[in-house]
Amino acid sequence: MKLQPAPNISTITPYPPGKPLEELEREYGITGSIKLASNENPWGPSPRAVKAIAGALTSLHRYPDGSSYYLTQALAGWTGASPAEIILGNGSNEVIEFLVKAFVQTGDEVITSHPSFLMYQKLVQVRGGVNTVIPLRDMHHDLAAILAAITPRTRLIFMDNPNNPCATLISREAFADFLEQVPEEVVVVLDEAYVDFVMPPELRIDVFSYIRNPEGRAPVVALRTFSKAFGLAGLRVGFGLMHPEIAGLLHRVRQPFNINLLAQIGATAALEDLAHYEMTIRETSRGRAWLSAEVEKLGCRAYPSHTNFFLIDVRGDATRLYDAMLHQGVIVRSMKPYGYPDFIRITVGTEAENQRFVLALATCLRELNYV
Ligand SMILES: Cc1ncc(COP(=O)(O)O)c(C=O)c1O
Repeated sequence: MKLQPAPNISTITPYPPGKPLEELEREYGITGSIKLASNENPWGPSPRAVKAIAGALTSLHRYPDGSSYYLTQALAGWTGASPAEIILGNGSNEVIEFLVKAFVQTGDEVITSHPSFLMYQKLVQVRGGVNTVIPLRDMHHDLAAILAAITPRTRLIFMDNPNNPCATLISREAFADFLEQVPEEVVVVLDEAYVDFVMPPELRIDVFSYIRNPEGRAPVVALRTFSKAFGLAGLRVGFGLMHPEIAGLLHRVRQPFNINLLAQIGATAALEDLAHYEMTIRETSRGRAWLSAEVEKLGCRAYPSHTNFFLIDVRGDATRLYDAMLHQGVIVRSMKPYGYPDFIRITVGTEAENQRFVLALATCLRELNYV
């Protein structure tokens, strides 16, 4: 074949294909394994969402509503945004893609942190943009270094808040001060995939105060998702909140039916199930506190978290521990590739999953002589 791929494509590492749990169990000869690696909701989707989706299955011969009218209306009610301030995506991942498509041309610069959510940099590469990557400082976005890295070619700044994987927050004051110093033509994206878990809510940045008062300062876009607190990661629905003028630009690069029919119905129903959402937040907080205490009893260090996941210093090589945990049927995330060779990241699970994790961790730490 004589292929001529765009030069920026050939340097991209494809997303590593994961193994389904069933495959892993077959390979390792284990059963009942648990996955605490992807920051999903362990309690599952809202039963109301499941019921609504089941009821919509016979309509699958129809195209979905290209404007996601009902979901947008429901989200307006949930967030306090006006419909014109909302853009829906096939996961918030897709909204990241819209932003990069709308603002980045070959050679334009985008600032991200490391470690941070990896998709920002990947999508910038696809677009032929230049990634300026700023290391976290003490596990927080280094706002001063980000400001210093801005050049006339900077188009976007992506910051996940809370940060994945460190689960840390930008304070309201630090963000206000930061934004004052960002040039007006740079779009600042706050990825709030985990914002639902941030308690008390006063710790959350009031994004609407920035979205609605854009004069004289850099515009702010907030990204949110149904994949975490709402337990709908498999449905792929996320959204962005932004000034209608920015939303207008993103609508130009959006495919007309990007939110499929079941996703629209399921996400709309999930917004009506406040009890499921609140249970998720409450149980996550309880599970996180219990897990952190147990992990510390085992001699590891649990880092504070504002999310449904947290980092653990296991006092030894994290990838060896990851492998040992796999044999116990517990999937966690090694932070070695992220620059924390002795850390793992775990997602808070159900009570039973958390207990199983602690037992497996104790076994593996002993096996490996870490503590
Ligand atoms: C910081 C952050 N942003 C976005 C996402 C992706 O969300 P979605 O499933 O809505 O594409 C994740 C998923 O893990 C994440 O950690």
